[in-house]
Amino acid sequence: QKQGFDWFMRKEIFEQPKAVADTLLGRLNDKGELTLDELRMSPELLRRVNKIVVVACGTAFYAGLVAKYAIEHWTRIPCEVELASEFRYRDPIIDPMTLVVTISQSGETADTLMAIRHAREQHAKVIAICNTNGATIPRESDAVIYTHAGPEIGVASTKGFTTQLVACYLLGLYLAQVRGMKYGDEIAALLSELERMPEAIQRMLDAKASVYDLAADLVDANSVLFLGRHVGYPSALEGALKLKELAYIHAEGFAAGELKHGPIALISENLPVFVVVPPKGRDQLRDKVISNIAEVRARGARTIVLAEADDEEAGAVAETLIELPKVSTLLQPLVAIIPLQLFACELATVKGHDVDQPRNLAKSVTVE
Ligand code: M6R
Repeated sequence: QKQGFDWFMRKEIFEQPKAVADTLLGRLNDKGELTLDELRMSPELLRRVNKIVVVACGTAFYAGLVAKYAIEHWTRIPCEVELASEFRYRDPIIDPMTLVVTISQSGETADTLMAIRHAREQHAKVIAICNTNGATIPRESDAVIYTHAGPEIGVASTKGFTTQLVACYLLGLYLAQVRGMKYGDEIAALLSELERMPEAIQRMLDAKASVYDLAADLVDANSVLFLGRHVGYPSALEGALKLKELAYIHAEGFAAGELKHGPIALISENLPVFVVVPPKGRDQLRDKVISNIAEVRARGARTIVLAEADDEEAGAVAETLIELPKVSTLLQPLVAIIPLQLFACELATVKGHDVDQPRNLAKSVTVE
């Protein structure tokens, strides 16, 4: 049931505070330690892992890109992220010391499933991050971390994505904990920040009206760019994917640092460019992104900037400012993606498209 919403997708966007809270539920014991009991993988085995390969498709792949930043930072284990459709065709270097992490909302994506089979043939251990109990992917994996998003009906993944991010953060922190990389206090601080994320997401949802106005304003755009750096880069890719799937317009996400290596040639008068600005405190990164915004604005682009409310420098170069709450850099995708989801959903609605069943797309891609 759509419960009063026009689309399942919109309902699912608004369910994210609960979906994120449910995915975090019961992961902390009374000693403030992270527990992932359902993982059923021994700490000894997790201590021996010397490489992590994250394999997924589409939106789940972008969650994997965020996971790389978090996992490498917290655990110092080298982490690669690969599209499942490429993985098994390139003779990947994996062995029994490799931990393969697959991410799939449906648990039935053919490419991801084939990647699991290939990894297990090489005797790698496989952890599935999945939203669907008993689906083929978790059944064929060594262990599973379930996201608790509830059923996702809209073809475009929304709460699937944010709960995948949460599961990736939990896995990264758990690995750090069992490998002794970060101790009690640090893990507890990050977990308590994660526990405040449903509220931060709710704040983004409460600001929906300005995003909807923006969508009405940009209804005639035929191309939209998204820029970000660090974890803002996968956020940009995911924002662009949502727009392609739903609004059927050209949309591309770029790493902001690549702008001068080609994409700046695309900038033209009035081209909408969304830019995700890293939080204050990450000033090296932030300054560079802010100067990228100035560069595209100087060329006449319409800059829509996602930045912390008190980021005056970002505000000064923004034509439209979407305020983000203060969160740690690594957790920023959980809030930055919300207005991008709302924007795509609304733009497609204004264009008269079927938001829940975009043309040519299936919810679960069970053929290669
Ligand atoms: O069910 P999965 O997470 O394995 O699906 C992967 C992709 O097919 C999926 O994320 C797709 O990209 C969505 N339509 C994105 O909104």
